[in-house]
Amino acid sequence: MYENISVNLSDGIAVLTIDRPKQLNALNKRTIEEAHAALKVLESNNEVSVVILTGAEEKAFVAGADIKEFADFTIAQGGALAKNGQDLLFNLVEHYPKPVIAAVNGFALGGGLELAMSAHIRIASSNAKMGLPEVSLGVIPGYGGTQRLAQLVGKGKANELIFTAGMISAEEALRCGLVNAVVEQDVLMETAMKMASKILRNSPMAIRSAIKAVNAGYTSGVNGYEVEIEEFAKCFGTDEFKEGTNAFLEKRKANFRK
Ligand code: CAA
Repeated sequence: MYENISVNLSDGIAVLTIDRPKQLNALNKRTIEEAHAALKVLESNNEVSVVILTGAEEKAFVAGADIKEFADFTIAQGGALAKNGQDLLFNLVEHYPKPVIAAVNGFALGGGLELAMSAHIRIASSNAKMGLPEVSLGVIPGYGGTQRLAQLVGKGKANELIFTAGMISAEEALRCGLVNAVVEQDVLMETAMKMASKILRNSPMAIRSAIKAVNAGYTSGVNGYEVEIEEFAKCFGTDEFKEGTNAFLEKRKANFRK
């Protein structure tokens, strides 16, 4: 059904793979539309609690937006490219109600790093290289990179990475807070799966609320502390809160997936 992505489900975890290895998994229009469609299906699938995003084969996570596709775009088409991409995929991932882990298995450049940065958590393989090289093409990051990179690594480091268009190693990405962990490539998926399994033990409803509250702090015009209070309060009216607290008091493990 999909041409440029694949989706695999096992034990509550969905792995969504960007699958255009000949183009280093570059994001063309069709790939963004397919990833959007797949995420929407996974969102309503109650069997799925965590999504892992990765790239096909060993060289690239995603090497950016597809340069061949936008090379002769006009100003209006450039604007539409950025807006559609942000609406369909990048903002969808950031505000996704289930945790999204990016397993960064190689080059994550431009739109590729922007996709990884939209995810809630990033784990990189030691061979991964990351950067926002857009200014070397005469354009700026268009899929949220100017915003999310500064949020993750601070404004000064973000400016350095954007202005130099340079690539950093996975280790440097770890040092500056761009990724949560670095592991050897042959254990990358296993590591992401283990983290997903840990997340799976917890209340999906509470995690959904936590995603909303954390994101609220990065949304202009929204008071994150107020959203935290609202989301905290809502938890008290749920079966999952009853199950979690009862399990603690009864000295047993909570079962949120009955
Ligand atoms: N778009 C389209 N095709 C791409 C691509 C991209 N972003 N990145 C790689 N490819 C293609 C190459 O054109 C090549 O295809 P052909 O065999 O048909 O020529 C194939 O993938 C393999 O790539 P290379 O031969 O270049 O591989 P390499 O090992 O020599 O270099 C690389 C690897 C350093 C990642 C290099 O491919 C590269 O610099 N890619 C572009 C990275 C980039 O600039 N990304 C930002 C894109 S702009 C963007 O993302 C805008 C935005 O924010 C919305």
